[in-house]
Amino acid sequence: MSALQELFSDQLKDIYYAEKQIYKTLPKMTKKASSPDLRAAFEKHRGETEGQIERLEKIFELLNTPAKAKKCPAIDGILEEGAELMEEHDVGPGLDSAMAAAAQAVEHYEIARYGTLLSWSKELGMKDASAILMETLEEEEATDKALSKLAVTKLNKLASADDDDSGDESGDESDDDNEDASSAKSVSPGKRKKA
Ligand SMILES: [Fe+2]
Repeated sequence: MSALQELFSDQLKDIYYAEKQIYKTLPKMTKKASSPDLRAAFEKHRGETEGQIERLEKIFELLNTPAKAKKCPAIDGILEEGAELMEEHDVGPGLDSAMAAAAQAVEHYEIARYGTLLSWSKELGMKDASAILMETLEEEEATDKALSKLAVTKLNKLASADDDDSGDESGDESDDDNEDASSAKSVSPGKRKKA
């Protein structure tokens, strides 16, 4: 076995582990999503992830080795950070933006891994594996783009209008009409001085 074959097989086990972890995590994220679009995006990607796991199993078959996962600390870390977000933020627009960003971190990790696997499979002359990997890579890239679009056109706008973290910055400040522009500049939101 060449060094590259060994690397390929190792990386395959790594991404197999990652996909399985992602598959387990997506329903938790879906549950916490307020935006129906974000929920739909997570649900769609869970279905895709199931297919991606099956594709990896096909590649293991092509290699004549049993499908085996190898613990990947990188994806564990990315998912752990996502889990922390879900604990730290209440359900709402802010959490939606945070989860979309966390999901994109996952996608970028996967895009890096699949890109490498694809180039190694090409180098190794594994045409069937390359075709399979390409399919998944394109799916991950499309997911990343869809999440960006959703965040920019909807989620981030809702999150910037919402103000549940800092308390009394928005709307209801009709009581402060004595505050002039220069003092408003120096006073931080939520800590207005008395008139
Ligand atoms: Fe994936």
